[in-house]
Amino acid sequence: MLSIILPSYNERESICRTIDEIIFVLNKAKLSFEIIVCDDNSPDETWKLIKDTYSSEKNVRVIRRMSEKGLSQAVIEGFSKAKGDYLFVLDADGQHDPSIIPKMFLELKKNDLVVGSRYVSGGGVGSWSKTRIFVSRCASYLAYPFMGKNKINDPMAGFFGLKKSLFNKLNLDVKGYKILLAIILASKRKLKIKEVPYVFRTRTAGESKLGFKVIFEYILMLMKFFISSNKELLTFAIVGFLGTIVNLLVMFLSVDIVHLPVLLSSAIAVEVSIIHNFLLNNFWTFTKRSISSSLFSRFLRFNFISLISLLITLVVVWLFTTYTSMWYLIAQAVGILLGFVINFLFNSRWVFKSE
Ligand code: GDD
Ligand code: MN
Repeated sequence: MLSIILPSYNERESICRTIDEIIFVLNKAKLSFEIIVCDDNSPDETWKLIKDTYSSEKNVRVIRRMSEKGLSQAVIEGFSKAKGDYLFVLDADGQHDPSIIPKMFLELKKNDLVVGSRYVSGGGVGSWSKTRIFVSRCASYLAYPFMGKNKINDPMAGFFGLKKSLFNKLNLDVKGYKILLAIILASKRKLKIKEVPYVFRTRTAGESKLGFKVIFEYILMLMKFFISSNKELLTFAIVGFLGTIVNLLVMFLSVDIVHLPVLLSSAIAVEVSIIHNFLLNNFWTFTKRSISSSLFSRFLRFNFISLISLLITLVVVWLFTTYTSMWYLIAQAVGILLGFVINFLFNSRWVFKSE
């Protein structure tokens, strides 16, 4: 059975036409289905309209959501209450063309996910303004680096289907509009995804709810995902930053308070900051890993890699300032960055290698 979820907010002008069209298409294709409208207690009483209009249709029901409002939350609630093995989402305003659902269903049987796509051959955005096309494309490009093996042409699509079994495996906690992208990001493994083209229709009634808040929530979602999937790298960077402060502080104490020579002070400062960084990385950055090597061997290797990355920085600065006309500060910045990357890679894959 197919479960068709229709998220709605103030759609009384167009939702019945959308539902009737879906019923027509699915009856014609002889598919068994249920339609679940997930309405966020719309002020225009869309929920009431559905209740009254389809009271005699057993397979059309409405969930009137009184809790937190939001497109993704509404869709997730619909998914979890659905009885079918195949879950679909369409906008309630009729902008998604239901006539491709039977084709999407055929594809979904062979895949994990099927997407109604505006950006594959045969698809299109209809009468969108240039600005809207631009925003949609930018949003897609922003998402690509995060999608890994699961890249698709239209990650912003709000028209898609997935197997209930896949949904059950995911632990979705999303706000905003981008429920499809959230599903793709939450799936760690490579998914089988098929895109089916359609042309996005023009809204005939009501108005779009996509505004700045939606865009802001989207960027927040990508940032959250970036942080959670790069925790070690970010912590490592913070440790490095703290280490630099420790380095400067020790240097100051050594020269100005203890009155040791500058070069000796510098060496002491470097080693103290290495010890500081090692301890923090060992007990913070990589603490979740199960590492079999001894603490001392890790410490020696950490020292070694720290020196190597220092050398790399020096070599980069030397190369750029000798053979190009690059400003020395830019050269130093490039050197530090390269040193940092190498430092992180070797620490994460060698010094703190998990079993
Ligand atoms: N329950 C609920 N709660 N439904 C909502 C909410 C909400 O907070 N906000 C919007 N909806 C419903 C609308 O009633 C509509 O049925 C559907 O979600 C899409 O909202 P629109 O406001 O019509 O979005 P759009 O047409 O501008 O955006 C379309 O393109 C986007 C990609 O560019 C949609 O297809 C989006 O899903 C898609 O991401
Ligand atoms: Mn719409």
